[in-house]
Amino acid sequence: MTSNPANGIALTGKTALVTGASSGIGAASALALGRAGAYVIAHYNSQEAEAKQVLRELRTAGADGEIVQADLSTRNGTDSLCAFASSRPIDILVNNAGSLVQRTRVLEFTHELWEKVMMLNLTSAFFLSQAVLGGMAARKNGVIINMSSVAARFGGGLGASAYSSAKAAVSTMTKALTKEFAPQGVRVNCVSPGTIDTGYHRAFSTAEGLDGARAATPIGRLGTPGEIADLVVFLASDTSTFIHGQVIEINGGFLMA
Ligand SMILES: NC(=O)c1ccc[n+]([C@@H]2O[C@H](COP(=O)([O-])OP(=O)(O)OC[C@H]3O[C@@H](n4cnc5c(N)ncnc54)[C@H](OP(=O)(O)O)[C@@H]3O)[C@@H](O)[C@H]2O)c1
Repeated sequence: MTSNPANGIALTGKTALVTGASSGIGAASALALGRAGAYVIAHYNSQEAEAKQVLRELRTAGADGEIVQADLSTRNGTDSLCAFASSRPIDILVNNAGSLVQRTRVLEFTHELWEKVMMLNLTSAFFLSQAVLGGMAARKNGVIINMSSVAARFGGGLGASAYSSAKAAVSTMTKALTKEFAPQGVRVNCVSPGTIDTGYHRAFSTAEGLDGARAATPIGRLGTPGEIADLVVFLASDTSTFIHGQVIEINGGFLMA
């Protein structure tokens, strides 16, 4: 990870819930938020050992936190994390958990797969936001950061129709939440990464596909989770108080519009 710990940013006294914090961008964001002083609730689904490792690294860095499990591709799992989140003050919510689930061409899609992708990437983020927004509005303070994707802008690779549609909706949801909650002191923004070197691509991309992404990226390489985490910490902090409802593309120049 290349994340520069706190970049002078102080999140001391804040509680951050990061979904999908057991690996990749979520793990890097959890660690960077912890290094900046936040108490970090690191959510995971299947990778408990990795989530525990993130917690150990947080503590080694002088931060603290806890881990919580939920399958956000299901209604039950989403409800359980929402109940958890609404039962305590959350200052920073990072809706990061997400996956393509299964690369599937349009003609092969079932209702069940479509709904699973939507539940994981979009619906759970909406209801988790709902779970924390009441408290944030009452305290007139809070930050939500949603994880979209460059796929939202161009439809993604073949077989990513549900995923890219869900991510486009996450970007739009960010603006809708901003209209309703900016007047109540809550800041909502969206991070839209290009191709970042994480387990996502070990699961869903080919070596040739990644070479193509490097070739199409002006800086000639993939991004790192730490580079996304630095943006998450910036958006979580009081150094970005006039940034509301934005979808920030972070992709090494892959997409510049
Ligand atoms: N990597 C990229 O190039 C890229 C580009 C644009 C956007 N993104 C987005 O960035 C976010 C993080 O992705 P990543 O690249 O860091 O991938 P990753 O390393 O595969 O991490 C995905 C995280 O999401 C969690 N997750 C997956 N399925 C879940 C489920 N059913 N319920 C709850 N949590 C689940 C995983 O938890 P467990 O492992 O514990 O199950 C893991 O912590 C995702 O929203 C992804 O769409 C990634």
